[in-house]
Amino acid sequence: MMKQSTKSHHFNLEKEADLKKQLQEMNLHLPHSPHLGILTSPLKMGGFFLPNRFLIQPMEGVDAHPETGAPSPLTVRRYRRYAAGGSGLIWGEAVSVVPEGCSGARQLRLTQSNLKEYQKLVETIRQEAYKHHNHSIVLILQLTHSGRYSRPNGIPKPLKGQKNPWLDDVLKMNEAPIITDEELDHLLDAYVETAQLAFQAGFDGVDVKAVHGYLIAELLGAHSRTGRYGGSFENRTRFLRECIARIKDLCPSSHFVTSRTTVLEPTPYPYGWGVAPTEGESKADWTMDLEEPLQLLREMDVLGLPIVNISMGFPRFQPHINRPASGTAIGALPPPEHPLKGLVRYQETVKEIQLNLPNLPIPNAALAWLRHLMPEVAAGMIEEGWCSLFGMGRGAFAYPDLPRDVMRQGFASPEKCCTTCSMCSQIMKDGIGRTGCVIRDKAIYGPELARGRSVQTNPALIRNA
Ligand SMILES: Cc1cc2nc3c(=O)[nH]c(=O)nc-3n(C[C@H](O)[C@H](O)[C@H](O)COP(=O)(O)O)c2cc1C
Ligand code: SF4
Repeated sequence: MMKQSTKSHHFNLEKEADLKKQLQEMNLHLPHSPHLGILTSPLKMGGFFLPNRFLIQPMEGVDAHPETGAPSPLTVRRYRRYAAGGSGLIWGEAVSVVPEGCSGARQLRLTQSNLKEYQKLVETIRQEAYKHHNHSIVLILQLTHSGRYSRPNGIPKPLKGQKNPWLDDVLKMNEAPIITDEELDHLLDAYVETAQLAFQAGFDGVDVKAVHGYLIAELLGAHSRTGRYGGSFENRTRFLRECIARIKDLCPSSHFVTSRTTVLEPTPYPYGWGVAPTEGESKADWTMDLEEPLQLLREMDVLGLPIVNISMGFPRFQPHINRPASGTAIGALPPPEHPLKGLVRYQETVKEIQLNLPNLPIPNAALAWLRHLMPEVAAGMIEEGWCSLFGMGRGAFAYPDLPRDVMRQGFASPEKCCTTCSMCSQIMKDGIGRTGCVIRDKAIYGPELARGRSVQTNPALIRNA
């Protein structure tokens, strides 16, 4: 168990040499390279050619139209900025496949009735990429069900994948229902239908999201569940595998299916995924073990998925695992370790997956704490075979033009970078505002943060929010 750190870990690295020194002092290793040209090199990905190695990781903006789930002007603005910034692959954020699986009132939903609005969004993104960079990009849409984190219309309505005493206690979900096998069978149809709509809208690929504790990720660790979707490895992975196989069957050859798959759902055995099959002494004990995640990812490789994205951990309980940061959400404990330690652990995990699956492009993520030194580390990692693509999450909220600046000026500008203050996560946590970068896009997202904060400190306002 890690002790809570009391130190603040503000970023004070100026040059690559400073990073090298800090890594040495902390006895850590992370590749880094001044040769950023590798980031502008194309990559063959299945039947597609990516114009460069920059990838926008899925980032929920919680800014959909609350009644229809269609993209709002703010959604369109975010994606236009990503395309104008030059990334070759935009991995669209989580879109709920059923209304009851939404994470909040403003999560995107793709339906027959709002299909035209998604078609327009895709067209706008592609035009923007052509206009600014004269290249065609690859667009993926992430499909999800929030499971125990479902809040349709903003009201919590958890649907669990399994009984999990650790999570049930913390989240006060002991009484929440467990989704039945029949409900899961129907849900498969909803994934397939939404995937079809995504292809009609013009997305190149769809991602069956299985990360961060949401429904499919929870099923991967559902040792305690009985029936067709729990117990054995085959049963626990059945939903994800069948969903991928069914979408693949209907998918035109010009499109593809992929998954952002978790390699760690960190609750103790027998409830977690990617954890060693030994029961710990305390409820919070778990040790990472990649055997099962690797087995699943190998099956995806054999199925011919052109790319697989990974992530790990529960952002709301252990953000230090997947979003190492200098700042913490209001009321949260300070991180138990230096952000660089978590950042390196994440990259080492990406490396282990990429080395085991050398022909499958694996992107990295979780580099935001490095600010303007992200490109050097991403370039070093690609050079040394740790990953194939440079994925940006918070960095893209703050600085969507980073790829363009690296391509044209040869470096990222420190004053435009994400400071990992965690306030975009705070907006999501408060559950009221639409999210984006409060620091670098302050005019728009400063008031959104303030709105969420004022409602949290005066719950009587929630009804009118
Ligand atoms: C506000 C916010 C929204 C996010 N939304 C999604 C999402 O929809 N789907 C997903 O797979 N990950 C989501 N993530 C995780 C990011 O894709 C990424 O893995 C994480 O931020 C770490 O990478 P970074 O250091 O580049 O930010 C989100 C993260 C944040 C902070
Ligand atoms: S609000 Fe902006 S600076 Fe803060 S973590 Fe989010 S993207 Fe980074």
